[in-house]
Amino acid sequence: MKQSLDNCTFVIIGATGNLARTKLIPALYHLFMDGLLPNNIHILGVARSISKREDWLKEVEKDLDERARGGLDKAVFDRFCHHLDCLRSGLKTEADYQQLSHHLEQPKFSPNIAFYFSLPPSLYASIAASLSDAGLLAEDQGWRRVVVEKPFGSDLETARDLQRHFENYLNESQIYRIDHYLGKETVQNVQVFRFANLLLEPLWNRNYIDHVQISHAEDIGIGSRSAYYDGIGALRDMIQSHLLQLLSLVAMEPPVSMQAEDLRDEKVKLLRSISPIPKGAVSSHSFRAQYTAGDIKGNAVKSYLQEENIPQDSVCETYAALKLYINNWRWRGVPFYLRTGKRMKEKHSMIAICFRQTPKQFFRTSQLEQFKPNWLLIGIQPDASLRMELTVKKPGLNMETKVISLDASFNDETGRDGYEGLLLDVIEGDHSLFLRSDEVEASWQIIDPVLRSWATHQDYIRTYPAGSWGPEDSLRLFEKEGQYWRSSLDPE
Ligand SMILES: NC(=O)c1ccc[n+]([C@@H]2O[C@H](COP(=O)([O-])OP(=O)(O)OC[C@H]3O[C@@H](n4cnc5c(N)ncnc54)[C@H](OP(=O)(O)O)[C@@H]3O)[C@@H](O)[C@H]2O)c1
Repeated sequence: MKQSLDNCTFVIIGATGNLARTKLIPALYHLFMDGLLPNNIHILGVARSISKREDWLKEVEKDLDERARGGLDKAVFDRFCHHLDCLRSGLKTEADYQQLSHHLEQPKFSPNIAFYFSLPPSLYASIAASLSDAGLLAEDQGWRRVVVEKPFGSDLETARDLQRHFENYLNESQIYRIDHYLGKETVQNVQVFRFANLLLEPLWNRNYIDHVQISHAEDIGIGSRSAYYDGIGALRDMIQSHLLQLLSLVAMEPPVSMQAEDLRDEKVKLLRSISPIPKGAVSSHSFRAQYTAGDIKGNAVKSYLQEENIPQDSVCETYAALKLYINNWRWRGVPFYLRTGKRMKEKHSMIAICFRQTPKQFFRTSQLEQFKPNWLLIGIQPDASLRMELTVKKPGLNMETKVISLDASFNDETGRDGYEGLLLDVIEGDHSLFLRSDEVEASWQIIDPVLRSWATHQDYIRTYPAGSWGPEDSLRLFEKEGQYWRSSLDPE
């Protein structure tokens, strides 16, 4: 156990939900197993449908049995159980919150309390208000923190509303807006890669970089999340949050320090430098589509409209792509392409940086041969990797060239999930990897013109077959002929 951390109570509101069961409790178990949690931590699961403690522990054990790294260690689990408690609560009335407050007054619970809102986002505002009314957010006895999951709002206006609401009950320093992408090893490595290696800095600008692509592809469909997804779509679900975060890490200026506020200041500055998409240019800067039936790794899969509970006239996008420009000294004129899709050919997330062509093509053997610019590829998932493509001479008497890839990959052998580090950061009070309110607002500001335009065109949406890399037509976003979406880490 970690002696240096404050003892704390970790309250998961919505402990019966998917996130709590598949991510939060496994992450806490792994941290506990590795002795990284404070000595006297107590984890309190709260939900309307939670069972008696013994029954809940059985469910937790079953979930962990499926997910624990290296299999569930029964002895560790038994010790972990001493730190677990649960409370059935309607989470609605004043009496419900008085009950929660009394429960937390037991001496075993530390007065340093983190409330994790693992709940439908529509409840964030009312639950913050109820916790505050019950005196549970006041910091007289110990710290009080609230962790909120994405999405923080569903557009600029609702995000601002929610923020205003939170400001009635919480200080900014108490709020941890989580984006689990930022907990991923490779995402954090982007900062190290950029700011610990001087050789990149002279190249990291409009003089040497032709364009940047940031992709997140999933081979899965919407599963059982139709109710959530159909009102949200790919642009809100992935681009507004995760992909704009990646963009800001790739493109921001070096921060004054790696302290949370310095880091967040730079990210906000970068997001604010993104040129707004003019109303009349939405179609040349964005693309949306929906999957039809297809085949993924030999398995037939249904179309989006055939998924359970999806209205037959839904034009919700399962694929979204954006072209953005950053209007600052470093990046002016360099397009940044962001793309995400469900039911794509493979699961992959990567950042692909395409350098400019050499000023003269000395080594082309024929006019037909493709130009091969250098690419720098940062794989995020499934494999964490870092590759630099270079052109070299093919062995032999002829002056022929080929592309090779310098592989600086590092395998994350710990197998840690991004949530583990982030939960520890909440307990430690480190905001570096959490979003500040102005950062969230700046992200919504970028995509708001696209959301508004798409909302007024509800009669038609392009399609792509499940199992493909998305619609061919989306290539129209590229500035130059012959450019294409980079989908592989291997030389193409
Ligand atoms: N699942 C993921 O992998 C994932 C990933 C990223 C972000 N998120 C975000 O994380 C949050 C939770 O996601 P989730 O997938 O766990 O959601 P979920 O499975 O739908 O449920 C979350 C919890 O909310 C409780 N709940 C539902 N309606 C309620 C109500 N009216 N009043 C009080 N409690 C209510 C449910 O418990 P009871 O019915 O027992 O009260 C359940 O435990 C969401 O904001 C989601 O956007 C989830």
